[in-house]
Amino acid sequence: KLLGGDNRPLAGRTAIVTSGPTHEPIDPVRYIANRSSGKQGHAIAAALAKLGADVTLVSGPVTIPDPAGVKVMHVERADEMLEAVTSRLPADIAVMVAAVADWRVAASADQKIKKQPGEAPAPLVLAENPDILKTVGHHADRPKLVIGFAAETQDVEKNGRAKLERKGADLIVANDVSPETGIMGGDRNSVKIIAPDGIETWPDLGKDEVAQRLAALIAAKLG
Ligand code: CTP
Ligand code: CA
Repeated sequence: KLLGGDNRPLAGRTAIVTSGPTHEPIDPVRYIANRSSGKQGHAIAAALAKLGADVTLVSGPVTIPDPAGVKVMHVERADEMLEAVTSRLPADIAVMVAAVADWRVAASADQKIKKQPGEAPAPLVLAENPDILKTVGHHADRPKLVIGFAAETQDVEKNGRAKLERKGADLIVANDVSPETGIMGGDRNSVKIIAPDGIETWPDLGKDEVAQRLAALIAAKLG
């Protein structure tokens, strides 16, 4: 840090990043989930590591490889993701990118549910999952910088700002994930950075570029 041209400004900092979806079992062979490739979250974990941070990536089920240079904890369900995240506190930085399933099946079946031909299926009874970002944002060991995402299909700024406040985050990276944007599953992203004192619109960028910019912004904020 004393030498000029610091290219590892996050050396000595710890970071937790969540990525991917969670899978909430209905029975041993079926689940409910959100759409998420994990590309943006994994890229952020890699970008923070590249700036020198000691990064733990808590990933739900994805098909992309583990990024180099980060510790990866693989989980399936939201409750497992919460447990993995809190096990890594205290930390300096938390970036919650995962598309956590908002609900789980209240009583998942131990055995495969069989079809009863001609009979209506039993309705799924759902229970609300823990909010991992909100838990971290209000935690006794709250990281210095808590960053969330807001996946919206309308009113991106308004909904993003509401999430910033509700979840106790320092920044919300908001994006429009309407299917026609191609952001979900694609390699590009178009985000707005929502802070308590203002909003910044970034141009359409590759997910790797969004990750690098966000990592640089984190380094700047932590000084
Ligand atoms: N998040 C989380 N745990 C949850 C739900 C969301 O950690 N159970 C985090 C996401 O990782 C993201 C942020 O909260 O950083 C916003 O997620 P989003 O799904 O956009 O918001 P919700 O609060 O779940 O509201 P809704 O889905 O109704 O828009
Ligand atoms: Ca949600």
